[in-house]
Amino acid sequence: MTSMAASSSQSFCSLIPRTVLLVSVLVFLFPSQPEALKSPFSPIDMLSLLPRQVSWPILNYLNNADDLLPTFVGAVSSPDKSIQWQGACFDKNTAWLEFHNNSGSEFGGGTLHIKASNAHSWTCMDLYIFATPYRVTWDYYFFSREHTLEFTEWEGKQEFEYVKEAGVSIFLLQAGVLRTLQALFDVLPLFANSDWGEQSNVKFLENHMGTTFKERRPPWTTSVNVDDIHSGDFLALSKFRGPWGAFETLQKWVTGSFAGHSAVCLRDSEGNLWVAESGRGTGVEDDIIDVLPWDEWWNYELNNDSSNPHIAFLPLHPDLRAKLNETAAWEYVRSMVGKPYGYHNLIFSWIDTNHGNYPPPLDAHLVASAMTIWTQVRPTLAANLWNEALNIRLGTKGLDLPEILVEVEKHGSSFGELLAIPEQDDWIYADGKSASCVAFILEMYKAAGLFGPLSSSIQVTEFTIKDAYTLNFFENNSSRLPKWCNGGDDVKLPYCQILGKYRMYLPGYNSIEPYQHMNERLEEWYKSIPHSLKGRLAHGMKKGKAVAYKGCPNSEPEEAF
Ligand SMILES: *[C@@H]1O[C@H](CO)[C@@H](O)[C@H](O)[C@H]1NC(C)=O
Ligand SMILES: *[C@@H]1O[C@H](CO)[C@@H](O)[C@H](O)[C@H]1NC(C)=O
Ligand SMILES: *[C@@H]1O[C@H](CO)[C@@H](O)[C@H](O)[C@H]1NC(C)=O
Ligand SMILES: *[C@@H]1O[C@H](CO)[C@@H](O)[C@H](O)[C@H]1NC(C)=O
Ligand SMILES: *[C@@H]1O[C@H](CO)[C@@H](O)[C@H](O)[C@H]1NC(C)=O
Repeated sequence: MTSMAASSSQSFCSLIPRTVLLVSVLVFLFPSQPEALKSPFSPIDMLSLLPRQVSWPILNYLNNADDLLPTFVGAVSSPDKSIQWQGACFDKNTAWLEFHNNSGSEFGGGTLHIKASNAHSWTCMDLYIFATPYRVTWDYYFFSREHTLEFTEWEGKQEFEYVKEAGVSIFLLQAGVLRTLQALFDVLPLFANSDWGEQSNVKFLENHMGTTFKERRPPWTTSVNVDDIHSGDFLALSKFRGPWGAFETLQKWVTGSFAGHSAVCLRDSEGNLWVAESGRGTGVEDDIIDVLPWDEWWNYELNNDSSNPHIAFLPLHPDLRAKLNETAAWEYVRSMVGKPYGYHNLIFSWIDTNHGNYPPPLDAHLVASAMTIWTQVRPTLAANLWNEALNIRLGTKGLDLPEILVEVEKHGSSFGELLAIPEQDDWIYADGKSASCVAFILEMYKAAGLFGPLSSSIQVTEFTIKDAYTLNFFENNSSRLPKWCNGGDDVKLPYCQILGKYRMYLPGYNSIEPYQHMNERLEEWYKSIPHSLKGRLAHGMKKGKAVAYKGCPNSEPEEAF
């Protein structure tokens, strides 16, 4: 619920004036007494009130990287099953959950009680994150007493059932990361599969991409005539809810792209229309490459896709359509069906590999914190999404996130540097190679001859979705667009938006002539990899391949991916 998140940040603001006097006195004591942890006034307590640029280096100096991550203390699901733990500030803490129906809604809500006592010092506080797969919130406790956290209304049956079964997860954080937490809270809600999550995604993009989301004129669904759809026509998708929504939001923001997913249309020899897609399934964990009849695909997007999909239809230019070899396209697609979607490198695809850093407010610590929380709440998602990919980068096997952090530090490197190692085309995961949604489509275009003689000098795995829709491959004569294009919307886009409440803008659409080695960032990134990790990178790859990559291959990879 939005109301809950808002009340947390309000109370955070009101904390500052109360303690600001103490801070100004105590901060000066800090350099001379870093060991004064158990005195009535602990200067370290004050770190949380300093600006992040000041507090963060100090915290890093006093702690190992994994100490700064949120610690899972337990989950509460009923009043009979209370949990106890020792906090950073309060020695004795007890929590339990009580269901209620104050809202008079179908599934009611709940109150989480936390009783905190035996503080280490007068100025310390404990900082907590509370999470279900449907919401995340945080609070801090400064006084010894019973505190409550209100869940006015569960999101629906799914959250209600989840909480009854698995409970609300509680994470303890070092008080010093309070400032970091505010930044984290820009990112965490994105993953929630709820209205709140959707609004968070929109708000995040508005704030960080400086864009506004314009609502289209309803109806938000177009009745398409499939006769106007041909082989090679591109489908750009944008999702706003759940794990897909979150990854897409981060990817959109980092790549400056307004689409986060893609699929392609294909007709068989009998003229039936199909959609080929890398990333088909019930939600990230089990997504594969698949090809579905158009009606089945479109019905799913209209009625069953809970991520609130937005879809734009980008018809291929007639000249290219004439060039497209359907037999070759099908051969390629059939060879890929059933292989896993590129979820292993999902996270890494939106990290700015050239510079090894993130636009604010993200940083490596935030990524690690978010990973810790979602590892607890969505374990299979976590295992698939990052554990294996991080292990490969580090040249290790089977380490979990805290172990990875320890290992990275042992090598004098940082988690940020580890994240910055880009995905290699030939890394093989336990379930096989991964192919991203757009690499899959462009590889099909290539097989079908759309890149012509350039084919051998184009490395499509280096393309983002934006790189794909900015290619000048699409219809450029608006009078040839299908009649149903853009439905009843009053703004006429140069492509057809066929689904979605918000208008999809694709800046640079249909503008770039392909050229040799376009979008090849390989050489550049290899140079940019921190020296300390180059050896590890080579170790994580097959030996011969590592040498080849140093020279930056300008030939085709032996296999498609
Ligand atoms: C809460 O109260 C409303 C209205 O009285 C009722 O319809 C609903 O079933 C109740 N929900 C629960 C979970 O008890
Ligand atoms: C998809 O949604 C329709 C309409 O809401 C529903 O009848 C159908 O059972 C759903 N199918 C699946 C596979 O969930
Ligand atoms: C189309 O592709 C198939 C299979 O790769 C090939 O046998 C055929 O010669 C191609 N057709 C044309 C016109 O290039
Ligand atoms: C559309 O593209 C074709 C071929 O690329 C070009 O010859 C033509 O001038 C373009 N038309 C418009 C209206 O831009
Ligand atoms: C656009 O297409 C229409 C209809 O096919 C045609 O009459 C017109 O000449 C085309 N315009 C350009 C600039 O190619």
